[in-house]
Amino acid sequence: MSGKSVVVTGGFGALGRATVRAFLEAGWRVAAVDLGEAPEGTPDGVLAIGGVDLADLDSARAAMDKAAGAHGGLHALVNVAGGFRWQTLEDGDLSGWSALHRMNVTTAATASKAALPALKASGAGAIVNVAAAAARRAAAGMGAYAASKAGVLRLTESLAEELKDQGVRVNAVLPTIIDTPANRADMPGADFGRWVQPADLAATLLFLASDASRAITGAELLVAGRV
Ligand SMILES: NC(=O)c1ccc[n+]([C@@H]2O[C@H](COP(=O)([O-])OP(=O)(O)OC[C@H]3O[C@@H](n4cnc5c(N)ncnc54)[C@H](OP(=O)(O)O)[C@@H]3O)[C@@H](O)[C@H]2O)c1
Repeated sequence: MSGKSVVVTGGFGALGRATVRAFLEAGWRVAAVDLGEAPEGTPDGVLAIGGVDLADLDSARAAMDKAAGAHGGLHALVNVAGGFRWQTLEDGDLSGWSALHRMNVTTAATASKAALPALKASGAGAIVNVAAAAARRAAAGMGAYAASKAGVLRLTESLAEELKDQGVRVNAVLPTIIDTPANRADMPGADFGRWVQPADLAATLLFLASDASRAITGAELLVAGRV
């Protein structure tokens, strides 16, 4: 059992809930930070911190301080918070580009900045960012989303270099399609068994947050399932 402490942003969402479970089962002390209120069925033992806009530095700092205070420090930050919008350039509203940038890049950068003092104090901290396979190659209608997730990769790369000698590792995963209720509703004809299972992706996030991956920083790991 690890006995370490983690903050999972977006911890009330589909992947976030699976991630919270994976860390709990591995013996971590877990705080879930999210925009909305904690959903029914949040597991016992999770410190649920709702109503937090992670694009706002003061709000993010208050949440990280609360988690680190309650759990005796902070060893890992898993940036799951984010979102998706499909829109073509021709028909879509240009505000979608800044909205997705805020939702995906600003939240990850702000949460990371807010968590940094506690992560450095732990002596061996880790940040794991959830980007997307689309960051490498965008399909039609995915420009704004892919650009924002490419921003998450550049953040990962730059922060890994910045923190290389300061005891904090920074890595990212690039999922294709996760098997979530929202995706099943949007793509009812798809073969869900080929998609990435949330528990499998959560296990990868756990690995990248754990000492088992201590030699890895600045990595961008494609998690494709069989898509
Ligand atoms: N689903 C996929 O197929 C897929 C594929 C590749 C990558 N990803 C990425 O994986 C992550 C999780 O996806 P998911 O399907 O689990 O999404 P989800 O269920 O919508 O969970 C994302 C969570 O992030 C929260 N959030 C958004 N903006 C926030 C902010 N400013 N401050 C605090 N929390 C905020 C959302 O809150 P609200 O619901 O209240 O807005 C939601 O609870 C996302 O980063 C997504 O882009 C997903």
